[in-house]
Amino acid sequence: MIDTPANADDAAALNRAMWETRARVHGSTATDRFYDVESFVAGRETLHLLERELVGDVAGKDLLHLQCHFGMNTLSWARRGARVTGVDFSPTAVERARRLAERTGLPATFVEADTQRLPDSLAGRFDLAVATYGILCWIGDLDAWMRGAAMALRPGGSLVLVDLHPAFQTVATLEPLVVDWPYGGGEPHRDTVTGTYAEPGLSLPAQDVIEYPHSLGEIVTAAATAGLTVKHLGEHVAAEFDPRGILHQGPDGLYRLPFGDSHLPVMYSLVARAPHPHAS
Ligand SMILES: C[S@@+](CC[C@H](N)C(=O)[O-])C[C@H]1O[C@@H](n2cnc3c(N)ncnc32)[C@H](O)[C@@H]1O
Repeated sequence: MIDTPANADDAAALNRAMWETRARVHGSTATDRFYDVESFVAGRETLHLLERELVGDVAGKDLLHLQCHFGMNTLSWARRGARVTGVDFSPTAVERARRLAERTGLPATFVEADTQRLPDSLAGRFDLAVATYGILCWIGDLDAWMRGAAMALRPGGSLVLVDLHPAFQTVATLEPLVVDWPYGGGEPHRDTVTGTYAEPGLSLPAQDVIEYPHSLGEIVTAAATAGLTVKHLGEHVAAEFDPRGILHQGPDGLYRLPFGDSHLPVMYSLVARAPHPHAS
């Protein structure tokens, strides 16, 4: 799978093209149970317990949702009382998010931007920056991503990031156990995508993408380098859903990654705070 690295702009263009396809397809087919727009409009909660607990009460808070896709989770935070702004680099996702906001009557702002180059207009405006599930594997410049999140926060504001654990991302299949992805390093990897996690049976035109493996150490170090103070780092061995379709589901309905007699983590969660100006 390792191939010639593309430059950052070429990589972003490839990735954007693939996400344009998914932004058109997701929630648009009658068979998509993952992004079921009608039940969402009717009030379905799309946020998982993990991020709900970490983010806490959002009523009256300004919340920036990074890589918001077509806005379902952004609007779920709005339903909980946050003033929300979603950012995504896919014009189709942003357009669909705006239409979904209109349809639900929820106030929201959606901005088309690369999260590695957030616009200055977002600086210092948010109590919370939130990003969940399928985020940093698309990001070549981890430092720029963390700087952007830090820049958008008010003093004392928090970044809450919940994403697939790098250990989980190393695994291609469980039976047989095939490991085909490095644990971190940040080197660009080219892959060809022909479908979507939202509807595994659906065949889409083949599109090349560039993804980046980041270790937990690299992620935490990037947050610290951006001036954020790490308040919490969680490694979670059970998840409410299986984003890659390879995990074992237990009798409790949760998904796990077996490892000998125990489990490897499938998700991690990071909470990191922007400093107060006079804090030492
Ligand atoms: C797996 S989805 C995130 C889904 C998210 N959990 C949600 O709220 O539905 C990843 C999103 O990241 C966006 N994305 C990927 N790379 C990006 C970048 N460099 N800048 C901005 N958005 C990006 C894609 O367009 C896509 O909408």
